[in-house]
Amino acid sequence: MILLKSPRELEHMRAAGRILAEVKALLREIVRAGVSTKEIDDKVEAFILSKGAQSAFKGYRGYPATVCTSINEEVVHGIPSPKRKLKEGDIIGLDLGCIVEGYYADCAISLPVGPVPARVQELLDVTRESLDKAIVQCRVGNRIGDISHAVQSHCESHGFGVVRAFVGHGIGRALHEEPQVPNFGEPGRGQALKAGMVLAIEPMITLGSWEVRVLDDRWTAVTADGSLAAHFEDTIAITDDGPDILTRIAA
Ligand code: CO
Repeated sequence: MILLKSPRELEHMRAAGRILAEVKALLREIVRAGVSTKEIDDKVEAFILSKGAQSAFKGYRGYPATVCTSINEEVVHGIPSPKRKLKEGDIIGLDLGCIVEGYYADCAISLPVGPVPARVQELLDVTRESLDKAIVQCRVGNRIGDISHAVQSHCESHGFGVVRAFVGHGIGRALHEEPQVPNFGEPGRGQALKAGMVLAIEPMITLGSWEVRVLDDRWTAVTADGSLAAHFEDTIAITDDGPDILTRIAA
């Protein structure tokens, strides 16, 4: 069952999303060579708590941190560590959520640490663009498959791999609600989009194959072929006036 959100519920989700938009700006400042992923996690957690919100991930199925920090061939769910310091030329995916008045928002960005080769920058750019193209499809009367197809067609046309094992999701009073939002699929298929639905759309895209495996820590997902991966995510409300991106600051 897909839970539609009332205007009052959307206001709480908008407040949670606003905090995440501010965290994204903070991350662009603190991600640089020499910083550890634990330092990033500590700063983000302090910021979220200072806003009177809670971390959505800490304690979720036993996850031990506020941010998932996934470096290079790590796709998602990398665990912050004081021993893991960023180096020039790395790319890092940063995924986090927060809770306001019991309502969740979820987002992710991927950033380069200093300059990276052109094809790696293209991976970051195309993954972000695919999320933007997916958001354009978030209109009443469209279907989940229109969102999925927008991501897949853009990324595959650039020769990148589209991860299958993890998908986007509905979000609200839980981090993960129905429906699932795959990053691959056929236009015109799947659930019809209705006003009041809120979706977390999250393309996970690789320089190589789409296959992933999970490390012995039981969290970190890496590409099976060791190729680099990028991840972007926003939380989007479907409204009669079109998509409302809750995790960005309105221009
Ligand atoms: Co998510």
